[in-house]
Amino acid sequence: MKRLGVNIDHVATIRNARGSNHPDPLVIAKHVIECGAHSVTIHLREDRRHINDKDVFNICKNKKIITNLEISLNDEIIKIALKNKPNFICIVPEKRKEITTEGGLNLEKNKVKIKKTILLFNKKNIRTSLFIDPNLKDIKIAKELNANCVEIHTGKISNLIKNNKNFKNEYMKIKKCSELGKKLGMEIHAGHGLDYKTTTVLTKIKEITEFNIGHFIIGESLTNGLKNTIKSFKKITNK
Ligand code: PXP
Repeated sequence: MKRLGVNIDHVATIRNARGSNHPDPLVIAKHVIECGAHSVTIHLREDRRHINDKDVFNICKNKKIITNLEISLNDEIIKIALKNKPNFICIVPEKRKEITTEGGLNLEKNKVKIKKTILLFNKKNIRTSLFIDPNLKDIKIAKELNANCVEIHTGKISNLIKNNKNFKNEYMKIKKCSELGKKLGMEIHAGHGLDYKTTTVLTKIKEITEFNIGHFIIGESLTNGLKNTIKSFKKITNK
């Protein structure tokens, strides 16, 4: 069975648009789990553009919510993550001006820092994941750095599929990376830009055991409702 993690950053985006307390990411996080998702993903960005420190505290504190906290390699953010003890962390690159996480980590350049960070979280029994582009070199480095999981950035294949372009090369890259990562003993996750169609394509890769999906689920929920949208995704991922 493949797991579904729901990214609720955009719930905080809507809340912040009015500087009020509604909608409350904690309430939605609980609801997402009640609707059948396996986990909730939140990204505490350095600029706090959506999720804030209080959201992290409230959501991590609730033991009914399996929380996947996305973090950059910023020392302050790492400290906050260690203090709040989420179930999982996923290290992602972060650029101040990007609209969303535009690519995977540069593992080669940040090896020392990433290894040290992974060790800090593994010591606390917090599952560690690295968000990477689909290339075999990064899969090998992720293993070297003792990551428990890798999350493969699916932005490129998602764009190709949505624009009816040939996605075979990108699919094969993701498949080969997934096979190698699994062989090396890591869990393989996928995320970014996923919708019903792109998730359906990627479920064919049996090594992928977790999908983390945000923007599409929140958008689709406006017409379909969160419960039905999660149900539809679970039907796809459990095929
Ligand atoms: N996985 C990771 C590591 C991400 O950074 C994001 C975007 O915040 C997602 C998954 C979800 O991407 P999307 O919102 O495009 O579904």
